[in-house]
Amino acid sequence: MAKADVPESGWDVGLYDKSFGFIARYGTDLLELLRPQPGERILDLGCGTGALAAEIAARGSQVIGIDSDPDMVARAQAQYPALRFACADGRSFGLDEPVDAVFSNAALHWMKTPETVIDCVARALRPGGRFVAEMGADKNVATITEALYQALAELGVARAAVDFPWYFPRTGAYVALLEAGGFEVTYLHYFARPTPLDDCENGLADWLRMFGQNFLNTAPANRAERVIERTVELTRDRLCPDGRWIADYTRLRFVALKPAS
Ligand SMILES: C[S@@+](CC[C@H](N)C(=O)[O-])C[C@H]1O[C@@H](n2cnc3c(N)ncnc32)[C@H](O)[C@@H]1O
Repeated sequence: MAKADVPESGWDVGLYDKSFGFIARYGTDLLELLRPQPGERILDLGCGTGALAAEIAARGSQVIGIDSDPDMVARAQAQYPALRFACADGRSFGLDEPVDAVFSNAALHWMKTPETVIDCVARALRPGGRFVAEMGADKNVATITEALYQALAELGVARAAVDFPWYFPRTGAYVALLEAGGFEVTYLHYFARPTPLDDCENGLADWLRMFGQNFLNTAPANRAERVIERTVELTRDRLCPDGRWIADYTRLRFVALKPAS
């Protein structure tokens, strides 16, 4: 397994499991698209704390989970000691032996060079293998990010100062990348999935602390909390009209096959 370019840990794994378990729960029905079979070798790319890798293993497949965050991998290994996890970057990994399927939930949009990810996935698959994934797509969390930009602008921070952390593709653009990478796309679904933040004690503020660091880091000294407060104010009418925070997620789900020969 190549372990190139693995970044320092950036995720609060305790908060992830406590307040963002919904991410893996939404991934459970993606498993119906994957249909893991007993004895198959399956890679979970961007496995996080391992909940979906464990579901795949429970269906009798041999699973290996990889993630670039050492703390995520450590938590996954501690929770599921019988499974195999490794720290590796989705943009540069390689496997010693090919797998029957690559699975990924809510992780591909964190990997901002999609061509290199698709290339690594294609190399990791046996001929005839499948790539089954869900990721954030065009317009994902647009209400939240626009409010973040506005909150920062009010403190004098230009939009260009933010290193936008995600790759949220349009459907056609992503299909073109998969096809250029040699895949045949057999299923694709773009959909809005308004996502309740019910496990976040502090509603959107917890979401911003978990996922919005690239925005918060550009705030002037000691003003990150102000950015959070202002973002919450700006979005409350649209995302929390009845006292329940619902984030404006859009998703892209797909199955892509590596040709058999
Ligand atoms: C929102 S979490 C999803 C985790 C898991 N798939 C789930 O459904 O709960 C996104 C994961 O992608 C991982 N990730 C981000 N960039 C990555 C990269 N370049 N290579 C591998 N994993 C990456 C993060 O460390 C994180 O664990």
